[in-house]
Amino acid sequence: MKTLLKILALASAALVTLPASLSLAQPSETEFERQASQARSIERIQRDYASRADDTASARSLARGPRIINGRPIANDAKNWEWTVSIQRRNNHSCGGAFISPGYTASGKGVVWRDDDTEPVWVVTAAHCITELELNLIERGELTAVSGDVSLARRDEFGKNRRLDSQKVIAAYLHPDYDPDTNANDIALLQLEELENPVSNRRRSIGIAQDTQQSWLYAPYTALNVMGWGTTLEGGFLSETLQQVRVPFVEQAQCAGSYASASNMGMSAGMICAGFSSGGYDSCQGDSGGPLAYIPAPGVPSPTRSAVLAGVVSWGAGCARPNLFGVYTSALAYRGWMARTIRQAETHDTNN
Ligand code: ARG
Repeated sequence: MKTLLKILALASAALVTLPASLSLAQPSETEFERQASQARSIERIQRDYASRADDTASARSLARGPRIINGRPIANDAKNWEWTVSIQRRNNHSCGGAFISPGYTASGKGVVWRDDDTEPVWVVTAAHCITELELNLIERGELTAVSGDVSLARRDEFGKNRRLDSQKVIAAYLHPDYDPDTNANDIALLQLEELENPVSNRRRSIGIAQDTQQSWLYAPYTALNVMGWGTTLEGGFLSETLQQVRVPFVEQAQCAGSYASASNMGMSAGMICAGFSSGGYDSCQGDSGGPLAYIPAPGVPSPTRSAVLAGVVSWGAGCARPNLFGVYTSALAYRGWMARTIRQAETHDTNN
């Protein structure tokens, strides 16, 4: 299919910003400590499948200082980040994304994704990450998905990342009902060129949330992980190293209620929320499009043994503010759309 660009909908930039009058001062050190201990006690009442060992480790480093927003850096040899990609405009990070498996089979119950080990070529991201600028870059082969290393640094003399794999985006599929004014249906798929000789063996896809997982996955206090190279403070700088933070799932009614009263911002059906009422831990600018994932902890009972994509970073009022939770596009709600879109694209390709 070469660089033929297929566009289902055009979008304009939809970064959510607030008037300066609404911005909060950064909490003091003691306030961070208070929030960290509150976070620890909330996390303690998580169900069996939430990780205890991991809680302790992350709570310890949470208290230490600002990351994603109060997250921690991910080690290259850690597990369960390898599907995270950096979407780059001419080698500059703009958004996150996640490799998803292209495999699917149609069964009586709809579309079932197949787990396979093929080179990942499909990335899910946020629709608001794909503006006219990105569409132009795709035509020129200058929008890439970079993967395989937690660090985006270390470029060689040609400006190319040494230990990173970089794939050209060859097509973008925005959700046809994406609305930049309300952020409804903020999801897009990127089709990548296949890599012939990947330099990293860490790249792989993440499974998408399924109906059978809904009852425990999208339940209050389920611990979810969000990762990205976004800013580590509201209004701050991007992070060179991939950061991760654990945030509990928040019921839509609670999230919608606080957004409605605080900022008149509306939630729609395909949106889910995660975060702490007290704020403090969140995704932020530059994390958009990146994965919100359920990750089973080793040795802890869990309904699933593999990581599950629960959502895609979409928007928020500021970052990590009390009661203004991070808002994500539900992966489950768009599972069918993703499967259909990929199937159509691949059928079209082989017919060419
Ligand atoms: N829209 C932002 C981006 O483009 C992501 C915002 C997420 N905000 C939050 N508070 N969780 O990167």
